[in-house]
Amino acid sequence: MPENIQIALASDHAGFALKEKVREYLTRKGIAVRDLGTNSPASVDYPDYAEKVARQVAGGQAGCGILVCGTGLGMMLAANQVPGIRALPCNDTISAHFARAHNNGNVLTLGSRLLDEATMEKVVDTWLATPFEGGRHAARIKKIDAIGEPSHPEKNP
Ligand code: RB5
Repeated sequence: MPENIQIALASDHAGFALKEKVREYLTRKGIAVRDLGTNSPASVDYPDYAEKVARQVAGGQAGCGILVCGTGLGMMLAANQVPGIRALPCNDTISAHFARAHNNGNVLTLGSRLLDEATMEKVVDTWLATPFEGGRHAARIKKIDAIGEPSHPEKNP
């Protein structure tokens, strides 16, 4: 978990009920949460909420983010458009462990259709408790970042 423990949290309508549970759970654990919506089950577009969280994480106003939609997949796609974001869908604890340990994920995405409240709590706990291992994994993250650089060899054959 990054030093800045403030977590930016958001969902779309499909993730709203589970997002409320995530906020309650983090608050019970004494973790500061910034809830960026949505605030009802009325239909909204998940990219709008993914962007809000991703910008806060990329800008350093939050140490990491949690996004909830129906599957965690749309949120992942949208959040990863923001440079510096590594959003990963984790609907089980093994994914949550490796998303942090190997991928240095900074946004956890959850699928409300894929996990129940008890599993969400275990996934969140695993995500928060698992440090990035660095080393060879840091070198691989650098390679991922380089793919987006204008100077990347594949873009300049
Ligand atoms: C909304 O119906 C649904 O498409 C959304 O929550 C998410 O699952 C998208 O990936």
